[in-house]
Amino acid sequence: MAREQGPFKTDNPWPRIGWWSVAGLLAAGAVLGFVVLGGEQQNGPRLGTWTAICRALGIASDTGPATAPQPPLQTPTRIAWTAATLARIAGGDVKHGEFVALNCAACHGEQGVSQSGLFPTLAGMDAGIIYKQLDDFRAGKRSWGAMNAIATALSDQDAADVAAYFAGRVNGLAPILGENFHGGRTLREADVATRLAFAGDPARGIPPCAACHGPSASKPGAPSLKGQRPEYIERQLAAFAQGIRQNDINRQMRTVAMQLTPDEMHAIAVYYGSGAAPAELAGR
Ligand code: HEC
Ligand code: HEC
Repeated sequence: MAREQGPFKTDNPWPRIGWWSVAGLLAAGAVLGFVVLGGEQQNGPRLGTWTAICRALGIASDTGPATAPQPPLQTPTRIAWTAATLARIAGGDVKHGEFVALNCAACHGEQGVSQSGLFPTLAGMDAGIIYKQLDDFRAGKRSWGAMNAIATALSDQDAADVAAYFAGRVNGLAPILGENFHGGRTLREADVATRLAFAGDPARGIPPCAACHGPSASKPGAPSLKGQRPEYIERQLAAFAQGIRQNDINRQMRTVAMQLTPDEMHAIAVYYGSGAAPAELAGR
């Protein structure tokens, strides 16, 4: 019969060969796509067969807790400016503070007015700031050998008392508030220190120092700088910039200091420390 000849033979093998080839290709494709390629990760070990198939299908199989070790949580300080903390600081006893402060005069000077660039002036510093720095030293959030030991020896109440005592001393840091702050400082101001203090540098994301450190505006925790020892100011700026000092809440100072050049740090330290700031303000 003509139908049993040529391409119409019933035992023609080609359709079977065709189907099997397609099935073979699909199987090889599935193994390649789901197992071999699905198992490869860009930055990790090869996945197991089942995980690889799930991943290739888009089913996330890694929903369990991550097994990789996480770095320990780092907080810059134990202090938060809550009503309870502020009340505790406000309750400092000046009389007892004066007694505690006998331990401080050798370094921080008579009544907290420092005579050396190594030690900061404490007289006139806001009590909350002194309290916070003492707690940071005690908790190891800020490091300087002797201060860590001294702060550890003080009780919480001692710290509040000595803070109240130094905050009330005169001839030290200028008060942040109560001064007339004249605007109109522009970014074209020639003197680099004045420019940074009053206008900042928006291109580098530096807000004016005066917005937090006074005059006239202040942020909790930001000490008055006017009248502080210039060497101390410069050293703290460098410490913030290098991440050696990390106890500033929300990285407020590290963010600023990282942007400053060493020359700018020096200029601004001299500006605040030399008493140029009061003269500058008086003239405006
Ligand atoms: C052996 C010297 C020494 C003695 C004593 C000492 N301090 Fe200090 N203190 C320092 C030094 C140095 C620093 C600055 C550390 C640094 O450069 O980071 C400092 C920093 C501080 C600060 C931080 C000030 C700031 O501007 O952030 C406070 C607050 C402070 N001391 C309080 C005290 C109190 C209160 C006492 C007494 C109970 C005391 N210190 C005794 C050496 C001393
Ligand atoms: C966003 C607010 C903010 C701005 C802007 C800012 N500071 Fe500060 N600064 C702080 C705070 C808050 C602290 C206290 C950090 C802490 O808790 O230890 C601080 C601390 C400092 C200290 C250490 C003082 C001490 O007694 O230990 C120096 C020095 C300083 N700032 C300089 C500057 C200079 C210079 C500028 C401008 C270029 C500036 N800051 C801009 C918020 C600010």
